[in-house]
Amino acid sequence: MIDNTELLNLAKKACDNAYARYSKFFVGACALYDSGNYYLGANVENASYGLSLCAERNAMSSAVAAGEKGKLIKIAIFSKNRTNCMPCGACRQWMAEFAKDNHMQIILESEDEKCAIFTLEELLPYGFML
Ligand code: THU
Repeated sequence: MIDNTELLNLAKKACDNAYARYSKFFVGACALYDSGNYYLGANVENASYGLSLCAERNAMSSAVAAGEKGKLIKIAIFSKNRTNCMPCGACRQWMAEFAKDNHMQIILESEDEKCAIFTLEELLPYGFML
């Protein structure tokens, strides 16, 4: 299985494809499933700002579109604008939808250029589920 550093590197590559012409805030993500498959995503903005899509949700959407049936175990997030680029609330809720369990890991680039790891439980306590 792919390791955290590789996952973060893939998120960094995906960040190169970000379409962030309005905010100039470039984000890439790489979502890893327990099948061993991974999917990339980048943020995609729109002139009608509120329609912009986050990198993480694009990565998870790609998984669904590709027919992924596994569960989300990790997601790496990279922004060329800042280290420790935390996922927004909407993306956290999306992660909860596809996560294997609340120990699912969110991997960020930390200050020392290593990985900072959080669990979904830490970032979305008492999340909504049906
Ligand atoms: N963005 C992401 O891609 N992921 C997040 O979790 C937070 C924000 C994007 C959306 C928008 O294109 C830009 O960052 C600035 O908000």
